[in-house]
Amino acid sequence: MIKTTYYQDMTRLNTFGMKVKARCFVEYDSVADLVDIEFEELARPVLHIGGGSNLLFTDDFKGTILHSKINFIEILEESSDCPSPVLVSVGAGVVFDDFCAWAAKEGLWGVENLSYIPGEVGASAVQNIGAYGVEVKDVIRTVYCYDTVEEEFVNFDVEDLGYGYRDSAFKDPEIKGRYIVTHVVFALSRTPQPKLDYGHLKAAVEPNGVTPEAIRKAIIKIRKEKLPETSVMGSAGSFFKNPVIGAEHFERIESAAKAELGQDYKVPHYDLPDGLVKVPAAWMIEQCGWKGRRSGGAAVWEKQPLVIVNYTGEAFPEEIIGLERRIVASVKAKFDIELHPEVEHI
Ligand code: EPU
Repeated sequence: MIKTTYYQDMTRLNTFGMKVKARCFVEYDSVADLVDIEFEELARPVLHIGGGSNLLFTDDFKGTILHSKINFIEILEESSDCPSPVLVSVGAGVVFDDFCAWAAKEGLWGVENLSYIPGEVGASAVQNIGAYGVEVKDVIRTVYCYDTVEEEFVNFDVEDLGYGYRDSAFKDPEIKGRYIVTHVVFALSRTPQPKLDYGHLKAAVEPNGVTPEAIRKAIIKIRKEKLPETSVMGSAGSFFKNPVIGAEHFERIESAAKAELGQDYKVPHYDLPDGLVKVPAAWMIEQCGWKGRRSGGAAVWEKQPLVIVNYTGEAFPEEIIGLERRIVASVKAKFDIELHPEVEHI
């Protein structure tokens, strides 16, 4: 069924809670519905959203917003000889964490580290969501889409989707918006494959036995302690991406930090191949003194400064953007690093 609403209030449809309207809002609940939507006729621009958890509306939306409610989880194939994958097909409109909960209950490995990330399955394949050492591309096998230009159904193998850190071919400006994800086939496993190398995860999980359910529980606990619950306080999770810099640049940052904070001080970082270094944006934002600071209705989250929140529930987009600009400028001035938003500005 296709449902069209005009001048739709989007407040509850974006986790930042920006009070904006969309000129036209189209929601559909089956793959077949996509064939019946006249894409050429839709008011432009056209934007397809998932859970609205990674975007910042900067104003009312003058075109059409599409939203999928394709909602199924189905085991396609399961061979008795381990360790073959258990192929699971999941509709684009399924809440990603509902899928994680289902997998944990079934005893299936693969998505437990991605528990409690807001958003829906279709968007997860576009954004390559990640947490605690796992990215969704690690478990995606095939992404099924509707091509709105050729008006046909197509599918892409994971290798052809150019996945990178919070990036995929779907975000390429040349094709952005052309393909609508209908469902995703994941390759999960009944063979234990815990990934516990991130931070203190091992210590948090091991006492309770290493199962997908135990890892899921531990991760939900960690995330609840650090990140604001979007139903209580609007946000879009991490606002910025973690930057990657050269080794020499990192050495300069480290010696400046040691001069300022003591010779034993260690700057948090992750070494990457080719001498590159990923530095947590949260650390730099904290060092610039932003942690917990408020500006009008917006604020920098006190427990994880990578997150900008709609503190009062009444923040205007301009207040969020103002805070973003000032954070970017101060990180640039102190560390000579340009932070880039992870959140998409609409
Ligand atoms: N840190 C600080 N001060 C703080 C918080 C963190 O200095 O107040 C430093 C610490 O050194 C910490 C490091 O930053 O070890 C990393 O912090 P955290 O583990 O919270 O992860 P992150 O790099 O800030 C990324 C993702 C999160 C994901 C976590 C856990 C990005 C942009 N963000 O954050 O994803 O949950 O790792 O894997 O890559 C999201 O994308 O919306 C999101 C929440």
